[in-house]
Amino acid sequence: MKKYYSIAIDGPAGAGKSTIAKKVAKDLGFIYVDTGAMYRAMALYFIRNNISAKDQESIEKACKDVKIVIEYIDGEQGVILNGENVNGLIRTEEVGNMASASSVYPVVRMKLVELQQELAKTENVIMDGRDIGTYVLPNADLKIYLTASTKERAKRRWLELKNKGIDADITAVEKDIIERDQRDMTREFAPLKQAEDAILVDSSNLTIEEVVDRIKEYFNNIKGLI
Ligand code: DC
Repeated sequence: MKKYYSIAIDGPAGAGKSTIAKKVAKDLGFIYVDTGAMYRAMALYFIRNNISAKDQESIEKACKDVKIVIEYIDGEQGVILNGENVNGLIRTEEVGNMASASSVYPVVRMKLVELQQELAKTENVIMDGRDIGTYVLPNADLKIYLTASTKERAKRRWLELKNKGIDADITAVEKDIIERDQRDMTREFAPLKQAEDAILVDSSNLTIEEVVDRIKEYFNNIKGLI
């Protein structure tokens, strides 16, 4: 059977996981799997149907009506929610917060974990999220826990919003990030934590290129050993 490589990147909100993972994927010729986008697509469905994240029964019922499919066009991941490509609708703070709140339920997670594991069986993948190294791909060839100080992450998020023409309050952005991390780290099922065999990378004082090069170097070092 052909061996497919897998790299897991976990870490808190705004650590730069997707930017870094996309670049590493391009350089190594891997598929980039953005698992947060899948939780966001589910969240969009709940928001559209006026389902509160606190209403576990309705969330569980709604999960039966949601079909998420992942497709790749020119290397870009497309998330298809019940037949509709929702990539352009899931990047808001509202959807992000709903994704964090609704992803605490095992029924939501199990639906997506299966999809994520299937993707890793047929492609070389670099997958980012919160539970990739600890739960989704426990045998990943390389695990990275990517983080940065809360201040730095808030600054990056704020700049990202500013570039989109959104004038946000940096203190509010930081508060939001702290709340999101707290929820993602303390949920009962598959919480965000550094896997025992993950390499910690603190990007507070590193450029994107420095982090990308570091991850590629780690991978090339272990590749010869696999
Ligand atoms: O990475 P992101 O901001 O797109 O993720 C949105 C939320 O989805 C995040 O706050 C928690 C949840 N999530 C998760 O629980 N597990 C993952 N593997 C990815 C995201």
